[in-house]
Amino acid sequence: MTVADITVALGQRAYGIHVGRGLLARAADLFAPVLKQRRVFIVTDSNVALLYLNPLSESLQAAGIQVGHVVVPAGESSKDFDQLARVLDAMLAAKCERSTMIVALGGGVVGDLAGFAASILLRGTNFIQVPTTLLAQVDSSVGGKTGINTSAGKNLVGTFHQPRLVLADTDTLVTLPKRELLAGYAEVVKYALLGDADFWSWLEENGAAATSGTEAGHAALRQCILTSCKAKANIVAADEKESGARALLNLGHTFGHAFEAEFGYDGDLLHGEGVAIGMTMAFDLSVRMGICPAADLERIRTHFTATGLPTTLPKTGRSAALTAEKLLSHMAQDKKVKDGAITFVLTKGIGKAFLTADVPPDHLRETLNSALAA
Ligand code: NAD
Ligand code: GLY
Repeated sequence: MTVADITVALGQRAYGIHVGRGLLARAADLFAPVLKQRRVFIVTDSNVALLYLNPLSESLQAAGIQVGHVVVPAGESSKDFDQLARVLDAMLAAKCERSTMIVALGGGVVGDLAGFAASILLRGTNFIQVPTTLLAQVDSSVGGKTGINTSAGKNLVGTFHQPRLVLADTDTLVTLPKRELLAGYAEVVKYALLGDADFWSWLEENGAAATSGTEAGHAALRQCILTSCKAKANIVAADEKESGARALLNLGHTFGHAFEAEFGYDGDLLHGEGVAIGMTMAFDLSVRMGICPAADLERIRTHFTATGLPTTLPKTGRSAALTAEKLLSHMAQDKKVKDGAITFVLTKGIGKAFLTADVPPDHLRETLNSALAA
């Protein structure tokens, strides 16, 4: 049995994360320890299906594992009640049983949707994450948050349901568009900025290679994924249901989600791009509050510019209509609002994030207006 690179230590629900090349071809062996039945049902999207559904299905079938599948349209809009119903209907039509393993093959959209479906199918079935975007390999496939969006907002309906295994085949990232790779890199940077200053210094040296999409950069990219998954595994093991430290993973997200809501979810602003801009704003706000060195904000802007991460909003018709008031009203609907107060992830410097609801309104407005004017 191959030992996992990382374990998410959750007692009886502990699971392994494998990170490396050629893992789809080895899926049958890697899946074997967690399969209760030699049968799986794959959920994937229309882009990923063309690239990786056959390789994964064939490698499983060659080992005598029966494979069913359903394909949802690519894109954030598939995280909705209609696609959830379609996926559940397909699983039931295929006569999935409680012991059938559900497999999420794709990015965060597929992972969140398939994980949610698995958590409610027959009152709960097991699932495996096979993430194929960098964002999914470093963040969404680990930690068990599943869900869909509703007209009231993003990820507002869902469950905590941990996968039984995560299999991150880094070869799949070769076909990922550069813009999606960079959006995932924003989440890598997040782990460094929130709690690991040494990792940040390493990224300043190696981040450009990791995001170059070249063979030479592959080792650095794998190191980014391993370090990120270790950081996330530790946080999830300490606070699975986000009653404390896990909320630090939302660094940049309170701002980022507000921008995403205003830009829509059709590609003008990717989740990771919103997070990148949001992280610079969290540092900007911390600098304005006098708790973070301005030099750290400059290091972040320099690194983002060097790697191609955005530090300012895209210039579209939607950005022209943005106001601080609109952003504040989205932020007030954030899932992390408690007793009407927004909890922010702020920082005392690189690697030193903390949670607080105590933010001077004037400084917050200055940060918002400065982002809108940039
Ligand atoms: P995504 O799943 O939409 O994938 C991005 C695009 O890349 C899609 O068009 C997809 O078809 C395509 N794609 C995927 N793999 C590919 C590959 N290997 N080659 C070529 N194309 C490929 O987006 P994402 O950025 O992976 O995930 C974003 C989602 O993740 C959001 O819905 C967000 O809310 C969610 N998320 C969840 C968590 C969590 O903890 N559950 C954490 C962060 C983000
Ligand atoms: N992506 C945030 C979390 O998993 O908690």
